[in-house]
Amino acid sequence: MFGRKVLLGGMTATALVAASTALAVDPPKLGQPAPEMLIRLFDISIPPDGTGLPPGQATAKQGEAVFIARCAACHGEKGEGATNDRLASGVGTLQDEIQTFKTVGSYWPYATTLFDYVRRAMPYNAPLSLTDEEVYAATAYVLFLNRIIGETDVINAQSLPAVKMPNRDAFINAYAPR
Ligand code: HEC
Repeated sequence: MFGRKVLLGGMTATALVAASTALAVDPPKLGQPAPEMLIRLFDISIPPDGTGLPPGQATAKQGEAVFIARCAACHGEKGEGATNDRLASGVGTLQDEIQTFKTVGSYWPYATTLFDYVRRAMPYNAPLSLTDEEVYAATAYVLFLNRIIGETDVINAQSLPAVKMPNRDAFINAYAPR
């Protein structure tokens, strides 16, 4: 199920790397519009409302194996933080005067941007190497570790934007309403 090649804007990760290498050799021609194909390669952002989430789905149960294989070395088996960031727990500690834990569960306002972040930046030592299904799986597992979803809840383009993060309503808009 996770054997499919990762597709970013219709391109494989290999094509993305090739395009970046080509750019390094042939520097940007400033003043010329970027070709549509190049824009598609880099345009993989998923905004908070989840627009553009790719096909595919997974549960946290499926995500455990992905997480152990690709994430646990740095983040710990339960996301408790090993050499790198703690991803789970800490809910309610942001007001604590002695120790706060900013994690996906305690701090992040949206679940959709977790998919976006993991797809573009993780694993830290091999970004863009996961298939979309593996990203859904790892995302589901991190949400499960934070007790935000159940182990068998299906995470996909429809269900992920509907996940309400614990700290969602604690952000304030620093800009005056226009
Ligand atoms: C080689 C070590 C390494 C691996 C493997 C790794 N990460 Fe990370 N991760 C990091 C580092 C380092 C950071 C902090 C990056 C930064 O702040 O720029 C990070 C940050 C994160 C964050 C943001 C945490 C926050 O609250 O800011 C998430 C989410 C995350 N990783 C998820 C994952 C997932 C899911 C996997 C597996 C698919 C994974 N990581 C694999 C090293 C790793």
